[in-house]
Amino acid sequence: MKFKTIIEPFRIKAVEPIRHTTEAERKQALETAGNNLFLLRAEDVLIDLLTDSGTGAMSSQQWAGMLNGDESYAGSRSFYKFEEAVHDITNLKHVIPTHQGRAAERILFGSALKTGDIVPNNTHFDTTRANVEYRGAIALDIPIPEGRQPQLYHPFKGNIDLDALSEILQENPGKVPLVMLTITNNSGGGQPVSMANIRSASELCHNHGVPLFLDACRFAENSWFIKIREEGYEDATPLEIAQEMFSYVDGCTMSAKKDGMANIGGFLALKNDALAQECRNLLILTEGFPTYGGLAGYDLEAIAVGLHEALQEDYLRYRIRSVEYLGGLLTHEGVPIVRPTGGHAIYIDAKTMLPHIKQSEYPAWALSLVLYLVGGIRSVAIGSVMFGRQSDGSEKPAAMELVRLAFPRRVYTQSHVDYLAEVICYVNRMKGDIRGVKMVESPEVLRHFSARFEPIGGSLLVAS
Ligand code: F0G
Repeated sequence: MKFKTIIEPFRIKAVEPIRHTTEAERKQALETAGNNLFLLRAEDVLIDLLTDSGTGAMSSQQWAGMLNGDESYAGSRSFYKFEEAVHDITNLKHVIPTHQGRAAERILFGSALKTGDIVPNNTHFDTTRANVEYRGAIALDIPIPEGRQPQLYHPFKGNIDLDALSEILQENPGKVPLVMLTITNNSGGGQPVSMANIRSASELCHNHGVPLFLDACRFAENSWFIKIREEGYEDATPLEIAQEMFSYVDGCTMSAKKDGMANIGGFLALKNDALAQECRNLLILTEGFPTYGGLAGYDLEAIAVGLHEALQEDYLRYRIRSVEYLGGLLTHEGVPIVRPTGGHAIYIDAKTMLPHIKQSEYPAWALSLVLYLVGGIRSVAIGSVMFGRQSDGSEKPAAMELVRLAFPRRVYTQSHVDYLAEVICYVNRMKGDIRGVKMVESPEVLRHFSARFEPIGGSLLVAS
């Protein structure tokens, strides 16, 4: 290409103002929220990187589709459009809409798992793990060892450990009802899984008569990484790559709030007729009739259009490049991040950045609060607050203390990213002043959503 600047491949037709606040206002907002970013009012946030889920901007084509939504209870035109879009990409026979990804997980596991079963995965996302465990089954994470080392470069850190998988399948005949691959691996840093890894996992599973499922939330981003990093795919389109990935599997769960480019929605797609029937029966109990599954007809339209938009090369190039661009600026200034940068987010390695804060004083949590205090940025801490509490009530430090900055799709521009880099580098320069926090109130489960904290020593920063 003649020019190297990668621009946002869209122009902006509707805008939503974001609001600057003063540091004093943010300090007050943090106090009111018990120093928990989940408890802030979103309008007090300048740049919201809490999640890339359901927070994206829809295109004019999607909005146009929404006006065409057919709200018939059964057999709506919008369902058939949605089904066709999913078929085009996955070629999976049965397409079952759900209101979001975790509903697809609950229905799949509700039908396929029983107590004592084992589900291997490169790394379960938290709702996936919770839904497996809710069935009394064991959720096993077996990423390749490189996937657990934040600073180490590997092009496909999301890969599943094939030796470990082989061993599990051999040693547990009849106890593994399905294997899952999460693309991209969200909990492991948004890292991709290679086509070779998907193909080998599929062969291994099928040799043991075990079906392989994809947790396909970020399938388009994974396809892009295969295109740019895996030999033999440079000339393939993201759609062709996605089609090949799905050709190796027996089904998938999907949150359309990510690479479905929609604000709500998801689906379960699979080959097996009997399992599909069982899932549809369960769907009727809790989600709705199988041609709407808890969604409005207009949601199905938005997803049908969005799934294909997520595979457009200009869009993927811009999306992955923005994350990589921020990663480059941070690395240049010595901010430790998970490398290489993944698809949807930057993960700051708070344990490495703040060695003076003990894990029991939650360095990732403290850093995420300071990013808000200083720059109005909302991120999410993925560390000991989220994973530290064990089922017997004891505390165990998490393996990593990460701060995730997840990018909503098509929402922020390069100047927003430059601002982020400036704030994070500023905070990095004064990292020695950041203090830890203590948890002063916490619920028994999922405590990160509602626990309350106080800074140790009365303020988040030594100087303030
Ligand atoms: N699987 C993965 C890999 C996910 O990242 C998520 C959601 C889900 C399943 C569940 O989908 O939210 O539609 O029910 N991840 C969001 C996040 C919440 O912030 O990473 P859902």
